[in-house]
Amino acid sequence: MKQTIERIKKEAINELEIASDVDTLNALSVKYLGRKGIVTQYLRNISELPPERRPEEGKKANQVKKQISQFVNAAKLRLEKDRSEFDDGLDVSLPGRPMIQGSLHPVTQVTWEICDIFAKLGFHIAEGPEVEKDYYNFEALNFPKDHPARDMQDTFFISEDVVLRTHTSPMQIRVMEKTPPPLRIIAPGKVYRCDSDLTHTPMFNQVEGLLVDENTSFGDLKGILTTFVHQMFDDRTSLRFRPSFFPFTEPSAEVDILCLICRGSGCRVCSHTGWLEVLGSGMVHPAVFENVGYDTTRYTGFAFGMGVDRIAMLKYKIDDIRKFFENDVRFLRQF
Ligand code: DAH
Repeated sequence: MKQTIERIKKEAINELEIASDVDTLNALSVKYLGRKGIVTQYLRNISELPPERRPEEGKKANQVKKQISQFVNAAKLRLEKDRSEFDDGLDVSLPGRPMIQGSLHPVTQVTWEICDIFAKLGFHIAEGPEVEKDYYNFEALNFPKDHPARDMQDTFFISEDVVLRTHTSPMQIRVMEKTPPPLRIIAPGKVYRCDSDLTHTPMFNQVEGLLVDENTSFGDLKGILTTFVHQMFDDRTSLRFRPSFFPFTEPSAEVDILCLICRGSGCRVCSHTGWLEVLGSGMVHPAVFENVGYDTTRYTGFAFGMGVDRIAMLKYKIDDIRKFFENDVRFLRQF
């Protein structure tokens, strides 16, 4: 026997220590412990030794065989553990993941912009429930039960007396019940109607406005709305008032603004009329003031309710309202 078993062990350990993958470990295991392996061969050759040395050499060689085998197994376990840690995403050498930054929805941005303009004109912001009592949504706004005007607002009923608010106008009543005149408020929020087609979504956004004071006139209403439209768009954006009907205002008007998508020449957004209806308005009906206990001989007021989604379409020149609700980040990222 040319080599001592200590020497074989030392060489084996040296080689095993630098093995960095399982295949190398397997090859080393065969090299030392396989059928023709170095340690196996050594054990076989012990029979050639003088009988008195055999037991001791045999014992030492078997120990080395066991140590090499344990070393191989431990190294394999360590390599496998390292690999599974990488698989679990614990590779600390990888660059960090970028933070994806969201942005405010265009309808939210426009709502805030509208509120900002009115805040500068002295209006306070008021918010209220989306699940609303029939009383506030209709009754107190001078829509008696079975009044045909209720038909204009296809309603989601929660129960006989509770609805999803069909407009933000109930906020007029909620605020007036709690606040003595004079007042100026603006009430943004979601509203719901049982409508769904190309130009209607069952949920949409409105901003309500209400001003009550002594000596307010339709001229003030026109002045405030014109100022608003000029601030929101530009001084050249014309608006027109059309006579209309709402049970809670008298007289009432609908306000159209020049379609900014086609600048009045006609397109699918304005149904080829050149104008887009953006709000309803009027002088508050005395019956509404009576419902909240205001003195109708002293106070007058005006109110308006605008569709925010429409205003956002015009502001950003978007020709399909459904884009607001599809949650496509490629669309939303642009605002
Ligand atoms: N609430 C009405 C609607 O959604 C719009 C409206 C019209 C609001 C006249 C008003 C108003 O405040 O005075 O159809």
